[in-house]
Amino acid sequence: NEIKIFSPATVANVACGFDVLGFCLDTIGDEMVIRKTEENGIKITKIEGYDLPFEAEKNVAGVSALAMYNALQPDCGFEIEIYKKIKPGSGIGSSSASAAGSVFGMNELLGKPLNNTELTNFAMKGEALASKCEHADNLAPAIFGGFTLVKSACPLKVLELPTPPDLFATLIHPQIEVKTSESRAILPKEIPLENAITQWANVGSLVHGLHTSDYNLIKESLTDVVIEPYRKQLIPHFDDVKSAVLEAGALGCAISGSGPSIFALSKSEATAKAVQLSMQNAYSKSNIQFETYVSKI
Ligand code: HSE
Repeated sequence: NEIKIFSPATVANVACGFDVLGFCLDTIGDEMVIRKTEENGIKITKIEGYDLPFEAEKNVAGVSALAMYNALQPDCGFEIEIYKKIKPGSGIGSSSASAAGSVFGMNELLGKPLNNTELTNFAMKGEALASKCEHADNLAPAIFGGFTLVKSACPLKVLELPTPPDLFATLIHPQIEVKTSESRAILPKEIPLENAITQWANVGSLVHGLHTSDYNLIKESLTDVVIEPYRKQLIPHFDDVKSAVLEAGALGCAISGSGPSIFALSKSEATAKAVQLSMQNAYSKSNIQFETYVSKI
């Protein structure tokens, strides 16, 4: 009647794949407890870590839970406890972890009536509350795991991509908040054809690199000519971090989701740890607090 879950942080976009690509981190995530109750409805009974609304209609975990609950109309209710470890506005899928966790937990307690795509669809209702737009590039990896590609958001179609065996992620989270809605608002509505060609060539070759474990191809493909030029202005020392990690041997480096977190991919854990040190050095020159993580994908 009760389940405790780890709802992982995720990196969306993965350089070239804006709103499409994402991967899941295994070292950072929220914890949630979902409990079946006799009383009908969805109640959020505990929130620890960050100051978030208890009203289900105003909380991303509550909104996704309500969407699923109203569709299934089970003869029970649910209580949700949220132990929030992922800071809201960090760029590593904080709202997605909450939105995905509640529906994933409820589905387990109901005997798994829904598949991962259906769960992602309900979770998108919660995500939309935070980002003012229904996208699934953080939700899909949180629910499916590993690397995912959102082939289309409406109707939702998610492709699971393979992860090469030695691929590791390093992440730096500067302790400033960037709101997804704001970092979407600064993006241009149109992009030059030349940039579009570069970008979709990179998405295709990154996906091919993941399928063939071709680390050189992954390295050549981890570039974002469409979004990064605009968003990097919101992230202090972005260029310093990027040049430091490339020098330390990372395959590539880009903004994680809508920022301010920055991620790098590396071949081997040893390189990912060297990259972590280089990120720490680059950021220690500033007076902004930060955290870093290394994670197997
Ligand atoms: N793809 C989204 C964006 C992810 O970059 O705005 C952030 O939630």
